[in-house]
Amino acid sequence: MTDPNLRVLIPADQIQKRILELGEKITKDYPSSSPLHMIGILKGAIFFMTDLARALHREVHLDFMGISTYGKGKTSSGEVKVTKDLDISLEGADVLIVEDIVDSGVTLNYLMHLLDQRKPHSIRIAALLDKPERRLRPVHVSYVGFEIPDEFVVGYGLDYAEKYRNLRDICVLGDSAPAPSA
Ligand code: IMP
Ligand code: MG
Repeated sequence: MTDPNLRVLIPADQIQKRILELGEKITKDYPSSSPLHMIGILKGAIFFMTDLARALHREVHLDFMGISTYGKGKTSSGEVKVTKDLDISLEGADVLIVEDIVDSGVTLNYLMHLLDQRKPHSIRIAALLDKPERRLRPVHVSYVGFEIPDEFVVGYGLDYAEKYRNLRDICVLGDSAPAPSA
């Protein structure tokens, strides 16, 4: 499929290579035998979550949380809403939040405060992509896959109005992409 609106920014093989590196690092950083509670943020983080979990040489528990900040287009509404909460308690757990991209930081800043109240033993963030130029709220991301410039990207879980999530590469979406329908 060739789409004139898409330009490959990070090819699939580089994504996979980087995830293996992050997996080695995270495995070393959590030497304890208790499970690592990975929390994937729906829906953008699904592919990163499944690949990262399989790159870890340790026991993990997987859970997902639904958060919405973005509408259908490319700009944030600025509001954060929990659309699906966790199934498991986090008390005393080592928690790793797994996110597709940190942009303004609004989502993760909110989530860190929310989950901290549930008394985990530790809480860190792994994000595949980081757009540091766009930050409005402070967020400490312990594991970053790639820093990228301020461009709107799709693929490998990331969408534009729900489209493009299943692309293997991460691509920049051009300005000529049709606006999402209402
Ligand atoms: P933040 O709260 O502004 O950091 O937004 C984070 C969320 O916005 C991510 O989880 C994505 O769902 C979405 N987002 C931010 N930048 C992009 C992008 O370039 N492409 C697709 N989704 C994005
Ligand atoms: Mg997201």
